[in-house]
Amino acid sequence: MKEIGIYVHIPFCKNKCNYCDFVSFTNREEMIGKYIKCLKKEIQSINKNSYKINTIYIGGGTPSFIDSKYIIEILETIRNKFEVEKNAEITIEINPGTANEEKLKKYISIGINRISIGLQSTNNKILKQIGRIHTYEEFLNTYNMARKVGFENINVDLMLALPNQTVEVLEDSVENVIKLNPEHISIYSLILEEGTKMEELVDNKKIQLPSDEIERKMYWSMKNKLEQNGYIHYEISNFSKKGYESKHNINCWNQKEYIGFGLAAHSYINNKRFCNTNNIEYYLKNIENNNIKANIEICEVQNEDEKQKEYMLLGLRKIDGVDVQEFKKKFVNNPIYLYRKELQKLVNENLIEIDLNNIKLTNKGLDLANLVWQQFI
Ligand SMILES: C[S@@+](CC[C@H](N)C(=O)[O-])C[C@H]1O[C@@H](n2cnc3c(N)ncnc32)[C@H](O)[C@@H]1O
Ligand code: SF4
Repeated sequence: MKEIGIYVHIPFCKNKCNYCDFVSFTNREEMIGKYIKCLKKEIQSINKNSYKINTIYIGGGTPSFIDSKYIIEILETIRNKFEVEKNAEITIEINPGTANEEKLKKYISIGINRISIGLQSTNNKILKQIGRIHTYEEFLNTYNMARKVGFENINVDLMLALPNQTVEVLEDSVENVIKLNPEHISIYSLILEEGTKMEELVDNKKIQLPSDEIERKMYWSMKNKLEQNGYIHYEISNFSKKGYESKHNINCWNQKEYIGFGLAAHSYINNKRFCNTNNIEYYLKNIENNNIKANIEICEVQNEDEKQKEYMLLGLRKIDGVDVQEFKKKFVNNPIYLYRKELQKLVNENLIEIDLNNIKLTNKGLDLANLVWQQFI
């Protein structure tokens, strides 16, 4: 039986944050029931049930925004359709402004064993400015409630290079979160996405973002702080206590297969990358008309060369880098020989280091990771 992960997309949020361009809607609550019905139909439509599920990730949008009965129905549908491994990692994303004790208790009772809470900053002024619907105190309440109901694997999302965020303000957020002792911390550098309110505010000079130099200072400061406090840096933006690396993410970076269900959800199976439409009306209509395959919009079929390059690109996101033996096992080729020209250039620029077992980013490579990845696009 093939081991595979599942991603489920819930495209609803209470409010749109100023920086976010994820596929999610506000004020479309009347659509939620219909969406879940279609999502379940999509899950049931998969004809190959010879998959064993090792991770399930319910993301969004804000899965904690919708009634927990829908989350229960989604998991039941998955379990009826597939064999889910006993120790599968099952994650749900939570926005502190939308979760309560009852929802958290339901999640744990149906086998969700990991939660990922979006915090972004512990500074209330910044939270308000970026359009978050909660305060730091409300986050604390959600976090403590999650511990109380029994969650033993919690991730907290933070962001850096936000407007008005100084190195000290970021350090304060990191220290506050460390005190809570979560098993996992993700810290993303702000990406100024096209068409977002944040982009408009920056373009109109209403707000200013920290310079690249300050951003790198923030990155190294938070990295050092987290490492000093026992967190292992295992991917550019991800840190965890030993043994708590996100299995879902690791599988993606190791080019393992997964199926995505829901609006705009991505899948990777049998050397094909494809994704569902991001047009919600079209998505629902196709499912209602039993034309589920029509929702698939992008389909990239990889040849061996593309697959090997992608494996390098994904592997070089991980701090341990690309495992040379694993590469050989998967593709027969030795990546050090196969990519000797590209790798030599990167070594000369001190962006990567190579030994017999690994190809990985140097500290300079961490700062200039885009230059490294470009070699494998
Ligand atoms: C789907 S959201 C998490 C769950 C929930 N929707 C929330 O925001 O609390 C995933 C995470 O992506 C990060 N993110 C979203 N937009 C981003 C951007 N433009 N730049 C960097 N990180 C971003 C945030 O840290 C956010 O918590
Ligand atoms: S960051 Fe989360 S809550 Fe905010 S709009 Fe994006 S998905 Fe929704």
